[in-house]
Order: sequence, then structure tokens, then C-alpha cells
Amino acid sequence: MVDFPLRAIILAAGKGTRFKSEKPKVLHTILGKPIIWYVKFAVSWLKPNETIIVVGHKKEEVVREINCDKCIYVEQDQQLGTGHAVLLAKKYFEEFDGYVLIINGDVPLIRGETLHNAGEYLKALIRYEGVNLETLREGYRNKNIAGVAITAKVPNPYGYGRVIKDGSHRIVKIVEEKDASPQEKQINEVNSGIYIFYAPYLANALEKLNNQNAQGEYYLTDVVEILRQEGKYVYALEIPDYTEILNVNDRLQLAGVENIMKQRFMTFWGLNGVTFHNPESIWIEFDVDFSNDVEIFQNCMITGKTKVDSGTTIEANCIIKNCKIGKNVKILANSYIENSVIEDNAIIGPFARIRESSIIGEGSHIGNFVEVKNSQMGKNTNAKHLSYLGDAQIGNEVNIGAGTITCNYDGFQKHKTVIKDRAFIGSDTMLVAPVTIGEEAITGSGSVITKDVPDKALAIERNQQKIVENYSEKRKKKYEKSNN
Ligand code: UD1
Ligand code: CA
Repeated sequence: MVDFPLRAIILAAGKGTRFKSEKPKVLHTILGKPIIWYVKFAVSWLKPNETIIVVGHKKEEVVREINCDKCIYVEQDQQLGTGHAVLLAKKYFEEFDGYVLIINGDVPLIRGETLHNAGEYLKALIRYEGVNLETLREGYRNKNIAGVAITAKVPNPYGYGRVIKDGSHRIVKIVEEKDASPQEKQINEVNSGIYIFYAPYLANALEKLNNQNAQGEYYLTDVVEILRQEGKYVYALEIPDYTEILNVNDRLQLAGVENIMKQRFMTFWGLNGVTFHNPESIWIEFDVDFSNDVEIFQNCMITGKTKVDSGTTIEANCIIKNCKIGKNVKILANSYIENSVIEDNAIIGPFARIRESSIIGEGSHIGNFVEVKNSQMGKNTNAKHLSYLGDAQIGNEVNIGAGTITCNYDGFQKHKTVIKDRAFIGSDTMLVAPVTIGEEAITGSGSVITKDVPDKALAIERNQQKIVENYSEKRKKKYEKSNN
């Protein structure tokens, strides 16, 4: 948070031509969240008085995804450049005796802390100029400080605006790649697209922009030179970690930025009690939350609002989406779990599939090649082999034999199967729903159960076994005879 009047402008009207996508660039995702989300998140650190977002290309979609009621949206129907975008928002700051943070919508790695530091740097500069921020009653007007721009030295400056300084921290001008001379292209200190300007000075300079440049656009970056001609300076705050200012103009850059973001998360979780084996191969989205002593093996993908509690182990090649996983759970290799709850001490897999709205109760065990869909089971219930359990309500301490299937779909509708506490479902039972199996009831192996089974009863539905003595000998003889 900054302690001076600040409004923020986020530029998000561009199409992102280099993405070659139907989807607006700022809505492409990084670890499950849109690019613009990260920018807005960093900006929110400063708690600006207002947040103005310039939208244009597919604006309805962008506004919907940003999902911010308090934000002010400004429409830029034709993307004539970053300067034009800010000019359209001018009425929100021209009379404002304070500062305006402007940030491009495509710099997702910027940290809120860094934006805060830019604010602190600006304050220090103003103090240095002899203006006392604390006591200045009519506002924050100062003689010649127009603002601060965040810069960094990057290994490959290609595509960025080059920052030309006068030997001090004052910027002379920012030259875009396409307008830069060969010498200017050698400069590796680049413009991040993040600035804090004194609002009235900015409003005034914007009026003087033109589009006489290689791209025929109104460059926001030109205000630096315009202000300087009036004796007002924009200072560069060069930050040490250049990755924070990497922008995302195409899908290759998206992949690079996403990887850096992932490393940040892995570092965070690694320091907070989570072990990742072969972390490069593991995929964790932004909203995933872990308790301590969680251990995750290679090639796992954990996404959405998943929460994994302490002591839980997730073996190799598992996919877990939007799940709540309890304490000391074992998710064995190659399992796929989505939109479900796995309670404490349960064991899932290997090769299990748990689908939407399922609950696997405490200490229950879902084994290999078992598919569970929209089914809720109690404590210590086992379905260890080769089953389909769909739309089932299953009690405590139930045993589901290998090959059991809930026949939940009649071709038109889904029906429910109820299996009560301590029931024993024999292997290869077909439970034709709707059907209820009572408490401690038993079904015989291979039965097709179409009627409810009362508590403690046995239901068996199959033919009596027939024995034919010496059958193999008889068969052999019959064969030899027919071949002679
Ligand atoms: C811009 C800067 C460049 C800087 C780089 C840092 C200018 C002229 N250049 O270049 O100096 O090094 O960012 O990342 O500012 N946008 C609009 N309306 C427009 C044009 C763009 O809202 O008319 C938005 C885009 O949606 C995007 C942001 O502004 O979020 C930046 O636009 P982009 O075209 O990516 O600028 P760069 O060429 O990267
Ligand atoms: Ca860009």
C-alpha cells in the first residue's frame, strides 16, 4: 500500500496479434489464471483509490474474466497505441492531484512489492527535491519530478523499448525496437511498461503525442521525452530481477513466463514443507494449497482449487483437479481424481479414476481400474479391483467385490444404487439401479441384482452348477473320431 493518492490504469485493449488466437491475449492463462489476473493482483498491493482498465478487443470477455465490480472500464475500440489507450482514460486523472500508476496488462511476473518500491522511490525523490510529503497540504505537486519508470537490464532486449538516460537516473527518452538506431539497439536496459506519473503532468503531455513513428501508433513512452522538454523528469528505477518485467507477446514467451511462475510456487511450497520429487516434471496451479509433509512424485498435475492436507503422498503420474484431499491419504500412481473429496487415511489407486461429486470416506480404499462417479462412500469401505460405481450411496465397512458394476443408466435416465453399512457385494455383481442393498446383506458372485435386498439377506441370481464327470476325455475322443 502506498501513502499518497494513487490511481491505477491497466492497459488491456490489445488483441495480441502475435498469439494468433481467437482469445484476447490477456486471457491466456498461466498456471490456471489469466495473464491479466496476475497484473491486477500485483496492482492491488498498492491499494489504489481507483483502478481503471482499458479494454477493447473482445471487451465483454475481458471484463467478465477480470470480474471486478469496483474497477472502471474504459473502452478503446481501435488500438491506436498505448498512449492513445491512456489518453482515453484521461478524464479519470486530469484533475487529480496525485499519481497514476500505468501498467501494461501483459507483465504477469511483476511483484506487488516491486510496485510498492517504485512508489517509495518516487517519494524519496520528491523529498530530495525539498517537498515534504507529510506536510504538503494542497497535494503532492512538485517542481520537476514527472514520475518513475521501472526498467531492467535483460539478456535479450529485442522487442522492448530501450531506455536512454543522461548519465544519471533521469530518462532522456524511450525508443521502441522498430524506431531504434543500431547503436540504440545495443542498449539492454529496457522499459517494463510500468510507470508512476504525476497525474496533471501526464494529462498535459498526452495531448502532445503524435503517431509519427515506425508503427504509426501513439506511444505512451513518448511522454517521457515530451515532459523532459518541459524540464520535468521521469526517473528510471532499475530492478535487479529482470524476469519480473518479462512481457508476454506470443505463446513461446507465455511458456517461458509460466515456467518462471511455476518455479516461484515450487520454491514457496518447498520452503513450506512440501517435497517435490523431480520438480521440473510437476505441474501445480496457482490456487492449489498444501499443508506440510505432503510428498509428490514426478509427472503429477494438480490444478484448480485443490487442497492437500498433511502427511499425504501422491505417487507418480497422478492428475488431481479441484479436490479436497485429507490427511495421510495415499494416492498411488496413475490415478485421475476430479471435483471430489478424499477423506483422511484413504488409499486411492494405482490406476483409479474418481469423477465429479464423489466422496471417498475415511480409511476407504479404491483400487486399480475402479471408476467412481458421483458416489459417496463412508468409512473403511473397499472397492479394490475393476469396478464401476456411479450414482451410488455406499455406507461404512462395505466390501465391493472385483468386477462389480452399478448399472446406473437405462438409456434415458441415471438411477441411484444404495448399499448400506457392512454389506458384502460378491465379485462380478451387476446392481441394476434403482436398487438398495440392505445392511450386512450379501450378493452372490455373478448375480444380476434387480430387486432390493433386505438387511442381512443373501441375494443370489445364477444357475445351479452342473458337473459332467470325465468330460475332457470324452471331448478328446469325440474329436479324434471325427478326424478319422
Ligand atoms: C510496450 C512499450 C515498450 C515496452 C514494452 C514492455 C509502448 C509504445 N511500448 O511495447 O516500450 O518495452 O511494452 O512490455 O508502450 N494496449 C492497449 N491499447 C493499445 C495498444 C496496447 O490497451 O492501443 C495494451 C496491450 O493490451 C498490452 C499493453 O498495452 O497489454 C502493451 O502493448 P504491447 O503491444 O504488448 O506493447 P509492446 O510492443 O510490448
Ligand atoms: Ca507487450
